[in-house]
Amino acid sequence: MAWWQRSYLGYEGRFKDDCVLELANGKQVQVGQAPCPDKKKKKANKDEQTDKEADPVLSGTTVWDCAVVLAQCVTKPDLISELFQHSKPETCIELGAGTGAVSLACAASGAVDSITITDLGGMMPLIQKNIDANQSSFGSNVIIQCQPLRWADKTDLASLQGPYDLILGSDLIYYNDEERSIVNILIETLSALSGPHTVVLLALSQVHAPSEVERFKHRSAEVAFEEVSDVSYLIPEEYRTDESVLLLLKGPKLKQKKKRKRPVEQPMGRLNLE
Ligand SMILES: C[S@@+](CC[C@H](N)C(=O)[O-])C[C@H]1O[C@@H](n2cnc3c(N)ncnc32)[C@H](O)[C@@H]1O
Repeated sequence: MAWWQRSYLGYEGRFKDDCVLELANGKQVQVGQAPCPDKKKKKANKDEQTDKEADPVLSGTTVWDCAVVLAQCVTKPDLISELFQHSKPETCIELGAGTGAVSLACAASGAVDSITITDLGGMMPLIQKNIDANQSSFGSNVIIQCQPLRWADKTDLASLQGPYDLILGSDLIYYNDEERSIVNILIETLSALSGPHTVVLLALSQVHAPSEVERFKHRSAEVAFEEVSDVSYLIPEEYRTDESVLLLLKGPKLKQKKKRKRPVEQPMGRLNLE
């Protein structure tokens, strides 16, 4: 186990203490974790704060190992600027952000000037609290906000200003459930938010649901993106383990317009005037 891995910590380390991420450029973010997303509503109301259909285990209130990995990648000097030909992506979004650790790190490092942090609606109080707590780490020009996005939800998607230059996500495939089909709704969401110049970076766990991660790789290359590459070599060496993989997706496939069926020509019936 590497020193920075969090999945092996006990309850305090995962749900009570803040998680402090030291970034490559010397900056740091302090990320609040909790047993439930809205402490004011207390644990008793945990069920009300949970969208069990979307996330059966209320997984987002702790910082996952893949968030640490992705935060270190996107704040690695020059990685983002090299992906964007030495400029900054103007519009960025994170999906299933949980505590918001990756976006907070990204904004604090100066890698992006604007980012929208998304997750299920119930997660917004925790994310907003973490944005507020780290405000002094962001440059005065940085715009960082949170907004609910339930994957593949048409209303949520319509309220976002896609396509985005950069889409981020960590540990988004974490259980096996073909019926619920997390893979399909994730691909649908990524496609809806992508344009010709979008770069998608996903850090995915090879531990929680490896077969679903494989299915995601194949399916996204088959139906949604021209390029789906394993770019784990971009993970800083200290944070590289067999447990996570970094994927880069580019070039959304053009959606085939459904051919309109021509109405079958009916032979003119004889008018019955009798
Ligand atoms: C394993 S956690 C990872 C959280 C965070 N990205 C991290 O790595 O620390 C999965 C996250 O995906 C979110 N999620 C699960 N299903 C979702 C859905 N259908 N729509 C939106 N977010 C979802 C959960 O709320 C949770 O925050």
